[in-house]
Amino acid sequence: MCGIIGYAGSREAGPLLLEGLQRLEYRGYDSAGIAILDSEGRLNLKKHVGKLSNLVAHLEGVYPPGTIGLAHTRWATHGKPSDENAHPHLDCEGDVAVVHNGIVENYLALRQELQGEGHRFDSETDTEVIAHLVESHLRDGDDLPSALRRTIERIEGAQAIVVCSRSHPDRLVAARVGNAGGVVVGYGQNEHFLASDLPALLPETRTVAFLGDGETVELGREEVRYWDAEGRPIEKEPQEMPLDPAAAAKGVYKHFMLKEIMEQPECVLDTFRGRVLFDPPSVELAELGLSEETLRSIERVVLIGMGTSLHGAMVARHYFESIAGVPAEVDNASEFRYRSALMGPETLVISVAQSGETVDTLEAMQAVKRRGSPQLTICNTPGAQSTRIADGTIYTRCGPEIGVASSKTLTASIVALYLFACHLGRLRGRLDEAKLAELIEPLAHLPDLMGRVLQNEPAFEELAHSLSGFDNFLYLGRGLQYPIAMEGALKLKELSYIHAEGYPAGEMKHGPIALVDETMPTVAIAVRDGLREKMLSNIEQVRARDGTVIAVINEGDEELASKVNHVIEVPETSPFLLPLLTVLPLQLLAYHIALRRGCDVDQPRNLAKTVTVE
Ligand code: AGP
Repeated sequence: MCGIIGYAGSREAGPLLLEGLQRLEYRGYDSAGIAILDSEGRLNLKKHVGKLSNLVAHLEGVYPPGTIGLAHTRWATHGKPSDENAHPHLDCEGDVAVVHNGIVENYLALRQELQGEGHRFDSETDTEVIAHLVESHLRDGDDLPSALRRTIERIEGAQAIVVCSRSHPDRLVAARVGNAGGVVVGYGQNEHFLASDLPALLPETRTVAFLGDGETVELGREEVRYWDAEGRPIEKEPQEMPLDPAAAAKGVYKHFMLKEIMEQPECVLDTFRGRVLFDPPSVELAELGLSEETLRSIERVVLIGMGTSLHGAMVARHYFESIAGVPAEVDNASEFRYRSALMGPETLVISVAQSGETVDTLEAMQAVKRRGSPQLTICNTPGAQSTRIADGTIYTRCGPEIGVASSKTLTASIVALYLFACHLGRLRGRLDEAKLAELIEPLAHLPDLMGRVLQNEPAFEELAHSLSGFDNFLYLGRGLQYPIAMEGALKLKELSYIHAEGYPAGEMKHGPIALVDETMPTVAIAVRDGLREKMLSNIEQVRARDGTVIAVINEGDEELASKVNHVIEVPETSPFLLPLLTVLPLQLLAYHIALRRGCDVDQPRNLAKTVTVE
C-alpha cells in the first residue's frame, strides 16, 4: 500500500524524489523518508513520522546531496507509525537502504536468526530484515542484483522492494514478488526512475516498463538490466504511456476529490467514445482478448472486486442478467479467493479494479486462472498486474485517480461493463439491432445529464451543511440502486468518518429499522426505475418513526417530494443508467459533509489508494 520512488541519474535526486513522493502520498501517509547516496559513497537518510509535509518541514529545503536515491511513503503494517519505523531501513552498518511495499510473512523467524548472528535491529518493521539479509549476501561477495535475489529466496509473502548500497554507489536494484503492488521502471535521458505507480513518473517520463512477478531490475544512469524469476537475464521493451501529466494535477480545484467527481461526465464519455457507434448501432470492443466463440459459449458470469469497484460490479450484475441474458453473480474478491467456487471454461469471470493492483482481486484472479475460466478485467491503470493476468481488458479512460476515495473510476467502470453486456447480448443473439439501439441511445445524453446533476453542487453543499452534525446515516436502495446506496454509505464513511450503513431497502424491516429515530437520517434512492413504489413504502416506514429522509428522486416527482424532509433531484434516463446519476449527489454530499467536519478529503485517515496487503 506504500508509495515507492527511486532515481539514478545525473540530476540531484532529493528534489526529484520529494516531488515523486508528493504524487504518491495517496498510497500511504503514516511516514515518509528518503535515502541518497552521495559522490563520496555515503548514504544519507532523512525520515519523519506523519505526512510528507512533516518530512519537508524537517528538511528545511536542504536535501541530502547525491544523484542516486530512493524514497517511500508508508502505510503501516508492522510497527506503529514512528520515525524509527519509517522507511528507508538500513542494515546495522548503514551500508544498505531498503524501501518496501508488502509483508515479509516470516520476518520474525528471520529477525531472530539475524539477531543470533549479531545483527542489531532499530525498528519494529518486517522490512528491516530485508536490509540485513541484503547486507549479509553482499558481505558474502554477491553483487547487488544477486544479493537481492538471494534475499527474495529467503523471504515469504508478496513484496515490491527497492535497494541501494554504498558498495554499488551508481545503481539501484528492485524486485517484484507476487501481488504487493507494481514496480514501474521509467526511462529518461541518461537517467532512470523506479516507482510503485505510474503517476509518480509522469512529469519526468512516459516511457516505462513494468516488472512482472519474480522479476528483478538493476538500473544506473545509462543502463537497465532485467532478470526473470529464475535469475536469467531478460529483455524488456519500454512502452510509451498515453497519459497526460496534467491529468495527475489538481488544476483549479481545491481537492482531487472534487476534481475527480466533477470530471465524471468527461471520463464516461471518453470510456464509450469510439466504442459505441449509434448509426447503425454497434459496440466495438477491440481489446477484449476473448474470441467471439468463447463469449458465445459462456453460461455464467461472475463479477469480482473490492470496495467501490465491487459496487460497480454489483450494478453490472443486472446488466448481464437483463441485457445479455446470462446468469450473473457478484462476489467480494477477498471472499471469493478462499471459497471453493465451482467453475470452468463455461464461466466468464470479470474483475473490476481501478488500480489493477489490489491484492485481494489479483489473488482471486489467479485462483480463477488455475480453474481454467476465461477472464476479463475492467481497469483504469495502463499496464497494471490485473491486465496481465486477465485474458482481456476493457480500460476505463479516466486518467489517474488520485483522491484516495474512488469516484470517477466507478462511473466509468459501470459504463465499460454496460458496453460489454450489450456486446455480449448482441453476440448471443439476445439483442437485435433495434433493441441495441434502444440501449445505447441514452449513452449519447449521459455526459450532459451528469453535468446537469453536478451543476447543482451548491445545493448539495447547503444540504451537507444541514446534515453534517449527525453521527449515523442509513442509505437505502433497491435493484440497481442498492449498490449505489452501499457506495453512498462507503463515501460518507471514508471521507467524513461518520458511521453509515448501506442496505437493500427491503432488508430494513428485518433489523436496521430498530436504529431509526430522529438522530439517524436515511438517504433513500427512489427514482423511477420500476421499484419506486416499493421505495415509497420504505420511506413511509422511516417517516413514521420520526426519521429524517433525504430522497434522491427524479425531477418532478412531487408525490415523493411531499413525503420527505429533503429532496435531491436527478433527470430521467434509462433505469440502467440511472445509477450513474444518483451516485453523483451522494459523492458530493459526502465530500461537503467531510469538509464541514474538517476532514482530509483527499487522504482520509487509515486508508490507502491501492490495497496491496490482505
Ligand atoms: C473506494 O473509495 C476505496 N478507495 C476502495 O474501496 C477501493 O475501491 C478498493 O480498495 C478497490 O480498489 P481497486 O478498484 O483499485 O481494486
